[in-house]
Amino acid sequence: MGRSADVTDRLSRLARSWDEAAEGYEQYFVPRFAPWVQAAVDALHTIPFGTVLVPCCGTFPELELLAPRFPNRRIVGIDLSTEMVRLAGLRAAGRPGVEVIQGDAAALDPAWSAAAVVSVFGLQQLPDPAAAIRSWYDVLRPGGRLCVVYWPEFAEETGPFALLDEVIDGRRDRSWEDALIPALGGAVVERDELVSYPMVHPDAAAYFDAADRSGPLRATALARGDEYIARLRASYLAKAPAGEWIHHPQARLISATKPPSRAEAVPPTS
Ligand SMILES: C[S@@+](CC[C@H](N)C(=O)[O-])C[C@H]1O[C@@H](n2cnc3c(N)ncnc32)[C@H](O)[C@@H]1O
Repeated sequence: MGRSADVTDRLSRLARSWDEAAEGYEQYFVPRFAPWVQAAVDALHTIPFGTVLVPCCGTFPELELLAPRFPNRRIVGIDLSTEMVRLAGLRAAGRPGVEVIQGDAAALDPAWSAAAVVSVFGLQQLPDPAAAIRSWYDVLRPGGRLCVVYWPEFAEETGPFALLDEVIDGRRDRSWEDALIPALGGAVVERDELVSYPMVHPDAAAYFDAADRSGPLRATALARGDEYIARLRASYLAKAPAGEWIHHPQARLISATKPPSRAEAVPPTS
């Protein structure tokens, strides 16, 4: 069955938003998100031989940690955005076995038969996160490991993320988050926890402008227009504290393994 026009529009707007955001995302958000990327890669521990897949890789910061941790592997990043894929390709250049594919990672082809799937800060953007996490689990070979880190709808009590949520109208639907673990039926869920690190912004305006030009607000800006963003910025800044802003947002980390089949019940290799 073909996609509905609405879904296709949403996907192409999301891809365009990340095309526009990519350079700034690499500069502003990649260093600030680095501790969560580290936590995700650390959670892979040992994995069987085989490919490591990175859905929603963006500029591919995961690669900096995966390449030394899992040498001589095929490591494949997948992202929707042309510009993200271009920057990821620059990061992958000169590393044998590493590739970057442009495509929709919401449903992966089970033929991948991957040793590991790791994805950071992509899941919350997908239209059906429970179906996506299931698809990411399904591509694992027996003994393979999945680690997903995403921003929950409620990431902090106070801070720039919370304030932005407050000034953006409308209630957030959190029901999809409860569906993630049930979607992993048959998996051994090893970790399901909130992981928090400090994040520093020069000031409230710096965060807002980074989110607008180089982050998740770009899609909203494309959908609702510059006037809406200008009003949002004014109400956000009216409520924000002055000066440097440090906060401790919490991301959710889920890691799971696929039970080894009897035939493959051999000790894992790093
Ligand atoms: C916040 S960035 C995270 C990038 C990277 N994993 C990191 O931790 O910095 C989210 C990425 O998800 C990608 N994305 C969103 N929806 C996608 C989809 N359906 N398929 C593939 N990539 C998608 C966006 O293009 C964007 O590059």
